Amino acid sequence: MSEQQHTDDSTDSTSEKLVELAKRRGYFFQSSGAYGGVGGFYTFGPQGAALKGHVEDAWRDRFAVAEGNMEIDAPTIMPEPVFEASGHLDGFDDMLVECPDCGESHRADHIVEDNTMYEDAESLEIPEVEEVIAEYELVCPSCGGGLAGQAVEDFNLMFATNIGPGDSDPGYLRPETAQGIFVEFPRLKEYARNQLPFGVTQIGRAYRNEISPRRSIIRTREFTQAELEYFIDPEVDEPDLSSVEDVEVTLYPASEQNKDDGEAFETTIGEAVDENIITDPWVAYFLGVAKPWYEAVGVDMDRFRYRQHLAGERAHYASDCWDAESEIDGNWIEMAGFAHRGNYDLSKHAEHSGDRFTIFRQYDEPQTVERATVDPDMSYLGPEFGGDAQAVVGKLEDLAARDREAFDGDTVEFELEGETHEIPVEKTGFSVDEETIAGEHITPHVVEPSFGVDRLVYTVLHHAYREDEVDGEDRTFLELEPEVAPTFVGVFPLQSDDELEAQADEIVEDLREAGLSVTYDDSGNIGRRYRRQDEVGTPFCVTVDYETIEEDETTVTVRERDTTDQKRLPVDELAETLSAIRAGDLEFEEL
Ligand code: GAP
Repeated sequence: MSEQQHTDDSTDSTSEKLVELAKRRGYFFQSSGAYGGVGGFYTFGPQGAALKGHVEDAWRDRFAVAEGNMEIDAPTIMPEPVFEASGHLDGFDDMLVECPDCGESHRADHIVEDNTMYEDAESLEIPEVEEVIAEYELVCPSCGGGLAGQAVEDFNLMFATNIGPGDSDPGYLRPETAQGIFVEFPRLKEYARNQLPFGVTQIGRAYRNEISPRRSIIRTREFTQAELEYFIDPEVDEPDLSSVEDVEVTLYPASEQNKDDGEAFETTIGEAVDENIITDPWVAYFLGVAKPWYEAVGVDMDRFRYRQHLAGERAHYASDCWDAESEIDGNWIEMAGFAHRGNYDLSKHAEHSGDRFTIFRQYDEPQTVERATVDPDMSYLGPEFGGDAQAVVGKLEDLAARDREAFDGDTVEFELEGETHEIPVEKTGFSVDEETIAGEHITPHVVEPSFGVDRLVYTVLHHAYREDEVDGEDRTFLELEPEVAPTFVGVFPLQSDDELEAQADEIVEDLREAGLSVTYDDSGNIGRRYRRQDEVGTPFCVTVDYETIEEDETTVTVRERDTTDQKRLPVDELAETLSAIRAGDLEFEEL
């Protein structure tokens, strides 16, 4: 949840211009505008929904299909016991401080980070945050009222609801898609034929009642996550690091962050593992898989790094975590977290639900083990312990499994409801027998790459934002990768003319049949139509002019967005050529 070096919405002109473009051209805008808008909720317009959909498709291709993982689609509302077990009910809090003058609520840790030298105030305890607010005489960002002396409180970020009428069955909108995967583990393991390792992905909405949503779609109250939960046997399973060892990465480990002059540095995944900078091989593997993927969808690699969480920053379930961060206007924002969750989640759900969140680990060879058991003499325990006799049996069974030496003497001691009892060992039926077993039940560990789709979409747009001059006129364009651009090609008839329009319609049909996403535009002069497509990031435009309909071999003008270079291409080769460019098999310059 952390976001380094926060700034307000309007500190940078690129962000300002991008947010304005996004609204004007249909990328994203604040929802429910007719009712004044509501903080932290955004609607993706036609361009934004297409871009987001393409990013999700690319994620699915890489992290579900190419890795051989399963994808599921679970409900967004889950009953309270799920979040009791996961720890979200008790621990998923942010620090809230309310202004005594204007009544606005703010994230206390953000106020501290924005106005002091503390970079990671989230890891401070509440009394420490109160002290810092008082010491620096921090004020309300909305009205300037003093906050010193105000209580800082924990605020749970989950949206609560009731399932069905009445309030007897509370539920919550999931704060992460992950829980929808964990709770279904007993069934999902069957689909994986009870064999580790296996991965389950989910792309879907998550909800957090953020105290101060900000920076447009970077911190919202409803957002999309793309998460992979990869279940492993920690003693057996190892990733294929050879496939990612040469991937070059910029790393900013905790050790560097803790130094006064610490810096991010470049290395490879292989070196980072060898030098113990990334200690968990599975986390290293997924960092290696993700880096080229981020590059392919359009994140600028000069503005990308992996940052390790500091000890106090990690979520309650994580033993290690690295974030993928992108630089936006001089600030680093978290786009994804790669966490080792250990067996925390599955153990908790097993404990709370009583269901089996384990997998049977088959040994290579059956093993002979000694097993200590008890078979107590109930004709002795009954009269001695009355109604507690059965509980005594349980205590003796536990003791035999844990500490067989307790049965070495003539008597054995155990605790029952706070009291120590002693009984003769001969009455316990204690024995140690040899048994041949084929394996054991283990609780798998989980490695989790967790991507925020909205922050990635924002980064992709921000990193693609360009301004230049064409024919003496200022131009804004988005240099989006063809794979994610909402539309691949715009088709224009040069002028309002039946023949030109008929030919353009035919071309649109052909290109759509070839599977390309096409927009048709016949309004305004041709220069304006080019600008419109440039601004939404359409890589190519095709113009049908009089040469097209007059020539024997019909040709059209194809214009490339980034260079504005134009070439004439035969109409009957158009679909094939553009498809080859779209697939990355051909460059426009080669034509
Ligand atoms: N299952 C792990 C998990 O949810 P997280 O770091 O809290 O981890 C993962 O969230 C990603 O979800 C973040 O890296 C971020 O991209 C995105 N995210 C989290 N809170 C968000 C918010 N309020 N608005 C937009 N995206 C958010």
